[in-house]
Amino acid sequence: MPAAGNFKVCVCGASGGIGQPLSMLIAMDSNVAELAIYDLSTAPVPVQGVAADLSHFERKCKVTSYARDLQSGATPSEVLKEALTGCHLVMVPAGVPRKPGMDRADLLKVNIGIAQEIVEACAKFCPDAIVGLIVNPVNSVVPAMAELYRRKGLDSKKIIGVTTLDVVRANKFVHEVTGAAVDQINIPVIGGHAGSTILPLFSQDAAGKTVPADKLEALDKRVQDAGTEVVTAKAGKGSATLSMAYAGARFASAVLSGLAGERRTECAYLESSVTELPFFSQRVTFGPKGVEEVHPIGPLSAHETKRLEAVKKQLKGEIEDGINALPPAS
Ligand code: NAI
Repeated sequence: MPAAGNFKVCVCGASGGIGQPLSMLIAMDSNVAELAIYDLSTAPVPVQGVAADLSHFERKCKVTSYARDLQSGATPSEVLKEALTGCHLVMVPAGVPRKPGMDRADLLKVNIGIAQEIVEACAKFCPDAIVGLIVNPVNSVVPAMAELYRRKGLDSKKIIGVTTLDVVRANKFVHEVTGAAVDQINIPVIGGHAGSTILPLFSQDAAGKTVPADKLEALDKRVQDAGTEVVTAKAGKGSATLSMAYAGARFASAVLSGLAGERRTECAYLESSVTELPFFSQRVTFGPKGVEEVHPIGPLSAHETKRLEAVKKQLKGEIEDGINALPPAS
C-alpha cells in the first residue's frame, strides 16, 4: 500500500450532479495523487471537460478522464481498464436519480445494470480497491454487488454503501436543535439508507442525548425524509447533490486515511453480522486493509429499540429485492 498522499481514486459518473462536486473535493484531498474520472459520452457535460477544469487546481493531484461512447460499441470494461488499474478507491455516483412517477423497483431495475457494469470492471482491474456505492437504491444495490464479488471469489466487504449523508444530516439537525458545537456531534446512523430504514441513534451522542424528548420523534423523521426536503426545494429539478458530494468526500477521506494507517470510523452499509440481517449499516473502522472492524450497535433507547424492529423488517425485503434483481450466475 502506498504511503499517505499517494493514492489513486476513480469516480464513475463524474459528470453528474453528485459526480462533479465529489470529484472536486476528492481532487483536493491531500491523500490523492491521481484521480481518474469516468462517464458516458452522453453526459450533460463531457467528462474530458470536467477533467480539464479540475486539472487547473494548484494541487498535486493528476486528473485523467475516460468517456464511454455508446455508439462506438466499446464495453465499459474496455474503457475502464486504464481508469481502474492501480486504484485504491472507486466511488460510484453513476446512475439515474429517481424521477417523478418512478418507484423503487423501477429505479433498481435501471441502476443495478449501471452498477453491475462498473463493479464487474472493478473485479477485473482493481479487485483490492474499496468500492463506495452511492447509486440508489443503496439498500438493494449493495447486496447484489457484494453477491457478484462473492461469486467471483472476491472479498465482498470491499463493496460498501455510502450512507454518510444520513450521519451528516443527523449531526447538522442536532446542532440546530441543541446549539452544541457541530464538530463535536457524531450521531451514529444505522440500518439502511432509505426512508424508515434510516435509524439515527441520538442516545449514543452527548449532544444527541440532550434533544428534548418531545422533539426526538420529529427529528428522527426529519433525518429519514431529508432527501425529500431537497427534492421539494429544488422543485423537481434534482435531488441532493452538493450535500451528497460533501458526504461522499468525507467517506472517501476516511477510507484513504485508514489505508494510510490513520484509522477512521464512519457509519457504512455492508455485509455484516451485527444483526440477523446479512447487510446493515453500522459504525465501521477503516484501516490499512480497508474494513478493519464492524462495530456492534451498542445500547439503544426504548424508542430506538422499537424502531430497530421496523427497520429490520423493511430492510430484509429490500436486501432480497437486490439479490433477486441480479441475473443468475452464468
Ligand atoms: P445525475 O443524473 O446528475 O448524474 C448521474 C451521472 O451518471 C451522469 O453524469 C450520467 O451520465 C452518469 N451515468 C449514467 N449511466 C452511466 C453508466 N452506465 N456509466 C457511467 N456513467 C453513467 O444524478 P445524481 O443526482 O448525480 O445522482 C446519481 C446517483 O446517486 C443516483 O442513483 C441517485 O439516486 C444517487 N444518490 C445517492 C445518494 C446517497 O446518499 N447515497 C444521495 C443522492 C443521490
